[in-house]
Amino acid sequence: MKTFSDPVKLQRWCSARKLAGKRIALVPTMGYLHEGHLSLIECARRRGADEIVVSVFVNPVQFCPGEDYEKYPRDEKADLAKCRAAGATAVFFPTPTNMYLDRHSVYVVEEDLSKGLCGARRPGHFRGVCTVVAKLFNLTHPDFAVFGQKDYQQAQVIKRMVRDLNFDLKIVVAPIVREKTGLARSSRNTYLDPADRERATVISRTLAAVKDGSIKTLAKAAKAIEKAGLKVDYVECVDAETLEPQRRIEKGCCVLVAAYCGKTRLIDNCIV
Ligand code: PAF
Repeated sequence: MKTFSDPVKLQRWCSARKLAGKRIALVPTMGYLHEGHLSLIECARRRGADEIVVSVFVNPVQFCPGEDYEKYPRDEKADLAKCRAAGATAVFFPTPTNMYLDRHSVYVVEEDLSKGLCGARRPGHFRGVCTVVAKLFNLTHPDFAVFGQKDYQQAQVIKRMVRDLNFDLKIVVAPIVREKTGLARSSRNTYLDPADRERATVISRTLAAVKDGSIKTLAKAAKAIEKAGLKVDYVECVDAETLEPQRRIEKGCCVLVAAYCGKTRLIDNCIV
């Protein structure tokens, strides 16, 4: 497995592999890899990629002031071992200063799908995501890139960026991976103590009840989550493609939740 920290070296290597006719898959991550990330690597493998490039970068530009950029969990050594075991062929560990050169001044802004949901609560977040992902696409020339459905809005925003900026690649969205309790896997779950971890399972239980029709309104879903002691940031039902808010929970919609369990902001969703 190759490792790179220099973006130029990574770009040269990917160009050469591409010229050699190899199919490249990109799996962008912020590290502290868990089963969810490993399922993205597995998905790239199953789709027949010759080279699977995993990027591990806690991207400062997508964190808002006061968020957890500094304390976001990091473990480079463990991430390397996990990538190797999962079948990645290259890992990219850049530093903030070699990703964002002095006086970096160009950003990518998606102006439709990123307006609501997390975009409304985390101003500038998707600008940071689109910018770093566009850079990663330019560095790796992937045939396809794999993202997780847990970050549903992110996946839709990136698909739109790919369409509108004519990136020549396919976006693959892999299913949410859950712990046995139903809690969606996230690097941020490490912030939860055992009691929080237990309380947080209300999110996936509520979404399952929305999906099977036993909870019929967003108000009831929000109430169930608050009753377990979480603070709801939003519970919304949107059109799964356009992310336009929908009045009724109907087939084809996506119901998304963001809620604070203590200080930890958790997100999850389901397609109805
Ligand atoms: O989903 C994430 O982990 C990040 O937003 C991503 C796509 C790696 C960009 O930094």
